[in-house]
Amino acid sequence: MTQNNAKKPIRVWTDGCFDMVHFGHANACRQAKALGDYLIVGVHSDEEICKHKGPPVYNEQERYKMVRAIKWVDEVVESAPYVTTIDTLDTYNCDFCVHGDDITLTSEGIDTYHLVKEHKRYREVKRTQGVSTTDLVGRMLLLTKSHHENDESKLPCAETAKDLSTSNETFSPWTRSCQFLATTNKIIQFSDGREPRPGDRVVYTAGAFDLFHIGLLEFLEKVKKEGDYIIVGLHTDPVVNRYKGSNYPIMNLHERTLSVLACRYVDEVVIGAPYKVTKELLEHFKVDLVVHGHTQVAPDVDGSDPYEEPKKQGKFKVVDSDNKLTTADIVERIIAHKLDYEKRNREKELKEAKVFQIHSEMKKKEPNQYKAVNLNQ
Ligand code: CTP
Ligand code: C5P
Repeated sequence: MTQNNAKKPIRVWTDGCFDMVHFGHANACRQAKALGDYLIVGVHSDEEICKHKGPPVYNEQERYKMVRAIKWVDEVVESAPYVTTIDTLDTYNCDFCVHGDDITLTSEGIDTYHLVKEHKRYREVKRTQGVSTTDLVGRMLLLTKSHHENDESKLPCAETAKDLSTSNETFSPWTRSCQFLATTNKIIQFSDGREPRPGDRVVYTAGAFDLFHIGLLEFLEKVKKEGDYIIVGLHTDPVVNRYKGSNYPIMNLHERTLSVLACRYVDEVVIGAPYKVTKELLEHFKVDLVVHGHTQVAPDVDGSDPYEEPKKQGKFKVVDSDNKLTTADIVERIIAHKLDYEKRNREKELKEAKVFQIHSEMKKKEPNQYKAVNLNQ
């Protein structure tokens, strides 16, 4: 008699809004995937998010596509219900549901995971401190620069938190906890650590890659078609600020590094790439092709073309993403809906501050239990 020893793969479900799809979301997916073999991510529709939380900055089509591009995601379920049901887990044959260790509530104040918690089909991963959609929106609305790498005088979130929170009671420990601390460990966790294989065609592209949006994603999707090993050079915060002005970049170099590393099309990131693509750089990384999108190339400080060398070597190409979206357009969206987003941020933080107290009390009593929180009780 033959015995089937093959272990049944563990199928993991996680869901959320994934607005502005940042590296905190990617890190939640990374941790969720590590709890099993196959990760399915349910993403809520714009309508559901508007009902429970207020308008998202990225629309549903953008969010669906961007979550699909996170390298630990195997499948995306569009328009997933806001309250995770047992039926949803069963439909997708998932063993359990995973969420970060913050509490999410419906507009009626009910824990969105109460059903899966009751049925013991809920697991938790650590939320990434110091990054949230709310904080990013705050940086854009208040034009702060304190998140830049070279500004040691302030803690990144403190400035926006102080300005946007009306009192201590609205200070959310989740959405606005503290500064994001970049560590080598996090970079290792996000990186594949893969070197180019012999014969791989190496493609290099450099830029700000700020607020990783659908325009940048569609560009990288096209870049991937140009080669086998994609290296993204990220300019430092002062360099990006020189050519973009205002308070750009909205995300600092560490944050941009993780956002880009989480993208399935990227193999390697140069953290703080020189603005000029030099002969030495091309030799060092054995670059076969240098690409830039359809956007304008700002001259270097001395007025020269940063792509002079690869052009001279016949290794330069413009790759059209067919997508006109820029980081500035995202900022414009936010400014245009300033009042809506401010209201959304305030309400979210107020709710979180309340629920955090209830949740902390529950955890003190029963540290190892996942119990649903109900704001109405
Ligand atoms: N998440 C996380 N770390 C963060 C932000 C989100 O681990 N800094 C996790 C959430 O816990 C959840 C998943 O990412 O498991 C999707 O989160 P989402 O539904 O988008 O909600 P928010 O927590 O509100 O995200 P944000 O604070 O960015 O608005
Ligand atoms: O502006 P930034 O430096 O972040 O752009 C990084 C790269 O992405 C550039 O090559 C730019 O031309 C490209 N891009 C694109 N389509 C967009 C936005 C950016 O091809 N919508």
